[in-house]
Amino acid sequence: MRELTVRLGERSYPIYIGRGLLGSRELYAELVPGSQLMVVTNTTVEKLYLDKLKTALPGGRIAVHVLPDGEKYKTLASFENLITELLRNKFDRGCCLIALGGGVIGDLTGFAAACYQRGIRFLQVPTTLLAQVDSSVGGKTAVNHPLGKNMIGAFHQPCGVIADVDALSTLPDRELSAGLAEVIKYGLIRDKEFFVWLENNMAALVTRDPAALEEAVERSCRNKAEVVAADEREGGLRAILNLGHTFGHALETGLNYELLLHGEAVAIGMLMAADMSRRLGWLGDDDVARIRALLQLAELPVRFPGQARGLDMRELMSVDKKVRGGRLNLVLLKTIGEAVISRDFEESALEETLAFFSGGGVS
Ligand code: NAD
Ligand code: GLY
Repeated sequence: MRELTVRLGERSYPIYIGRGLLGSRELYAELVPGSQLMVVTNTTVEKLYLDKLKTALPGGRIAVHVLPDGEKYKTLASFENLITELLRNKFDRGCCLIALGGGVIGDLTGFAAACYQRGIRFLQVPTTLLAQVDSSVGGKTAVNHPLGKNMIGAFHQPCGVIADVDALSTLPDRELSAGLAEVIKYGLIRDKEFFVWLENNMAALVTRDPAALEEAVERSCRNKAEVVAADEREGGLRAILNLGHTFGHALETGLNYELLLHGEAVAIGMLMAADMSRRLGWLGDDDVARIRALLQLAELPVRFPGQARGLDMRELMSVDKKVRGGRLNLVLLKTIGEAVISRDFEESALEETLAFFSGGGVS
């Protein structure tokens, strides 16, 4: 088992990464010693992993709250149902929630934990690769509003993260690749050595070699933990974690969240950021080609789907959370392994990138 710490003073917490951890009594005894526990999961993950988790939990009262599967249930209505369930069970401020599932379950459970009786403990047990390397770490919690994704939320750190790479064996292929997009992101923004490691080990990751997965989850979480420790509330640096996201969100919104998974849109968005960085004279053609090749090895899309051609991307990007005072903040690449947050980019470079990709081009 590998162990990392997210260093946030008295709110510091461990991340445990390894095989078979979902059923580890010792970890739960350490992290959720309270007597009132509620596991929050969805109908898909319940069938796969709930029994294993429940048998490993310490004695006491264990309630289970199961949601239907899907991003469309990450809503205030689901939040309210969960709070109602806690009240019906007479759970007090000493209780603890356990989020068993992907980012949807983690974000919703975390938000409920941030709000219930002004804040209770919660444990992340992420079961998708995206959740293990990104959403379970760092304390961003949220639900969606019909007018915007993640628009209602809070920063609330978990008491720990248990990432069992064995759980990834049941993940659909597309979901695994979507998680790999976020893994590649860490190499691009601040860890060139990891990028090179990924170039050499992507085949093992795609075939779900457990040792390779453990290594990738650890190196990703280490990068995320360091960024979060330096800038918990995204005053500046943390925004680098959004590489490819401004382009990606615009694409997801323009396609009504129907055609691309989040990680797939981020993959295209990261290549767009690379393309724009090349137009600004920072990356070379060979760098962009390496990035595209790695995304393709991870079985990720690198060009706009036909339905996205002709979207008004500039307009779609203008509603992004990173817009300040009407200026777009973009995460770009100085080089592979070094991101910059830029407000002063040449607008023509952005226009050229958008026109190129919207026209079906691939950098
Ligand atoms: P998800 O939670 O919808 O999970 C993807 C699918 O995989 C679902 O159908 C789920 O039921 C299924 N699944 C989960 N674990 C499985 C397993 N082990 N085997 C088989 N199927 C399994 O999606 P996600 O990609 O995990 O997370 C996306 C969400 O995370 C979005 O809502 C996004 O906004 C959020 N997010 C949050 C942060 C953050 O910092 N809080 C960061 C990135 C993304
Ligand atoms: N997923 C971006 C962040 O946690 O800041």
